[in-house]
Amino acid sequence: MIGVSQANLGEPWRVSMNREIQEEANKHKNARVIFTDAAQSSQKQIRDVERLMKQGIDLLIISPNEAKPLTPIVQETYRKIPVIVLDREIENSNYTMFIGADNQLIGRKAGQFVSQLLGARGGKVVEIGGLLGSTPAKDRSDGFRAELAKHENIHIVGTITADWLRDKAEDLMKEQLRKWPNVDVVFAQNDPMALGASRAASALGRKGIKFIGIDGLSGQWGGIQLVGRKVLEATFIYPTGGKEAVQYAFSILNHEANLPKRVTLDSIKVTQENVSEYLSQ
Ligand code: FRU
Repeated sequence: MIGVSQANLGEPWRVSMNREIQEEANKHKNARVIFTDAAQSSQKQIRDVERLMKQGIDLLIISPNEAKPLTPIVQETYRKIPVIVLDREIENSNYTMFIGADNQLIGRKAGQFVSQLLGARGGKVVEIGGLLGSTPAKDRSDGFRAELAKHENIHIVGTITADWLRDKAEDLMKEQLRKWPNVDVVFAQNDPMALGASRAASALGRKGIKFIGIDGLSGQWGGIQLVGRKVLEATFIYPTGGKEAVQYAFSILNHEANLPKRVTLDSIKVTQENVSEYLSQ
């Protein structure tokens, strides 16, 4: 029995991760998966893990809402059963395996894309960040800022923290955009926040701002469609790792030798140039 402790099922990317997990688990006879949803509360996520343990799971897959508060429970669980940490890190490596993409690298690639978009003239950028205590928020920002720091004429004029949430990004952007009269590009750390920001800009009649996001989900309102409809200039496909997590879960439970401690998943940049390849998939 596998327990999956999810950070927040209110976010479409996580619904997609759970679907992938279930689909992969369906390939294994007798596999049972129990899902919990912390609804973006780290305290609830701790209790979720405790409850899964009481139910007698053999392995835990966890995507931690925030690093610090979840570190002790992951460590405690790892003393008893194998633990796979997915997508977001904790504060140490007391777990069996980490699976996820390189968020600093994605941030750097987003920065490179912004500098290409702005060209020699440079311009003004706003960054919209995810939940501060979650590691991708810091890593994406660090990579993005390190890249932009190479360009003297690109300025980050504002930062918003919208906790990964579309509506929060929309509300905060409506409040704050007035302070920044000449924004050229908005880099949001995920597609829902990029969509929220673009809605805010439209509502305020602010034209010409380019929006970039991360996740690249397919399906209606997914990042791929948004790039296809030119709502976003680009997105980065951020694989959920759900399938890999289940595959490795079985390798771990079968005591296979030489399993990696860290599995790094690739991310793909999707822009107006290559979006048609992904729209048809
Ligand atoms: C969903 C999400 C994704 C983002 C990831 C980062 O909760 O916010 O949109 O890419 O988490 O951990």
